Amino acid sequence: MKAITRTQYGNADVLQIKDLAQPIPKDNEALVRVHSTTVNRTDCGILTGKPFLIRFFTGLRKPSSPIPGTDFAGEIAAIGKAVKDFKVGDKVWGLNDEGLGSHAEYMTIKADKIVSIPDNFSYDEVVACAEGAHYAYNFINKVTLNSGDKVLVNGATGAIGSAALQILKSMGVYVTAVGNTKNMELIKSLGADKVYNYEKEDFTEIDNEKYHFVFDAAGKSSFGKCKKLLLAKGAYISSELGPNNENLYLPLITRLKGNKRVIFPIPTNCKRSLLYIKNLIEKGQFRAVIDRHYTPEQIKEAYEYVQSGQKTGNVILNF
Ligand SMILES: NC(=O)c1ccc[n+]([C@@H]2O[C@H](COP(=O)([O-])OP(=O)(O)OC[C@H]3O[C@@H](n4cnc5c(N)ncnc54)[C@H](OP(=O)(O)O)[C@@H]3O)[C@@H](O)[C@H]2O)c1
Repeated sequence: MKAITRTQYGNADVLQIKDLAQPIPKDNEALVRVHSTTVNRTDCGILTGKPFLIRFFTGLRKPSSPIPGTDFAGEIAAIGKAVKDFKVGDKVWGLNDEGLGSHAEYMTIKADKIVSIPDNFSYDEVVACAEGAHYAYNFINKVTLNSGDKVLVNGATGAIGSAALQILKSMGVYVTAVGNTKNMELIKSLGADKVYNYEKEDFTEIDNEKYHFVFDAAGKSSFGKCKKLLLAKGAYISSELGPNNENLYLPLITRLKGNKRVIFPIPTNCKRSLLYIKNLIEKGQFRAVIDRHYTPEQIKEAYEYVQSGQKTGNVILNF
C-alpha cells in the first residue's frame, strides 16, 4: 500500500511516500481502506514534536508510529473475528488525536473507536468534521452555557473556530465571530450574529458586549486582552498555550481569585465528539468547511500550507 512515513520529528522535509505491506487487523480491529483524511494542526504538532508535551503521547525521542495521520473516512476492507458491530463494505470514519497512522491507503483501528458515516455524506465531508470539531466540542463542554448566552469566537475560520461557531449556534447561543476579510461571508453563513474583521479592527478595543465565554480558537489573543469583555464568572479558553505558556498557570491563579477565569482544557474521548457531531450533521446543523484537497504526492505542500496557519477550515488528503 502507499503510505506517508517518517522516522524522526522535523518539518515536512522528513516525510516520504513508501510502498509498505498492508497491516493485518487483530481480532478486535477493522482494516480500513482510507479514502479521505486531513492534514491538520494536530498532525503538524505530531510531525514536529512541538510543543514538547506532545511527545509524552507520541514518542519521546522519535515518533512511535512511522505513519502520521489522526483522522480518516473510508470503507471497511476486513474485520477481526471478534468484531460484531461492523462488516466489510461499511463506510466509517474516526479520529485519534494521539495518531492513527491514517496517512496511508490502509490502516487498522479498534472497532470500538469507529463511527458509521451518516447516509448520503461523502468521505470528504465527514472527515472535515472530525479534528477541529472534536477540540471545539470538548472546549465548549468545559463551560456551562444556556440558550441566549453570549460567546465570542476568535479565529472563527479555522478548523476549530468554524466548528465552534456551528456547535454554539446549534445550542442557541449568541455568537460574535472574528475572522479575516476573505471569510466574512463564510462566517455569516455559519450563523454568526455579529462579525469582526481582524484585518480592519481589534475586537478587544471596540466591542462593548459582555460575554459568558471568550473562545480564542486561533490562540492569537490573550486573557489579558479579552478579560474586559467577560461577564463576572465568565470563562476564557485558548487553543494555544499563550504568551510565556500563561494558559498553563492562569487557570490556577484565576480560580483562586474566583472571578473571571481561564480554563486549560484537555480534550478527551474522540468517539463521543464524533457521535455528537454526527447527530448535528444529520439534523443539518453542522457542515464541513473545506479549503483545499491534496494528493499523497503533494504531502509536503499540504503540511507546509497547514503549518502556515492560514487555512480556512480543513485541508483534505485523498488516497
Ligand atoms: N492544543 C492542541 O493540541 C491543538 C490541536 C489543534 C490545534 N491547535 C491550535 O489551535 C489553533 C487553531 O487550530 P485550527 O486547526 O483551527 O487552525 P487553522 O485552521 O490553522 O486556523 C486558524 C485560523 O486562525 C485565523 N487567524 C489567523 N490569524 C488570526 C488573527 N490574528 N486573529 C484571528 N484569527 C486569526 C486564520 O484565519 P486567516 O486565514 O483569516 O488568517 C485561520 O482561519 C492553532 O493555533 C493550533 O496550533 C492546538
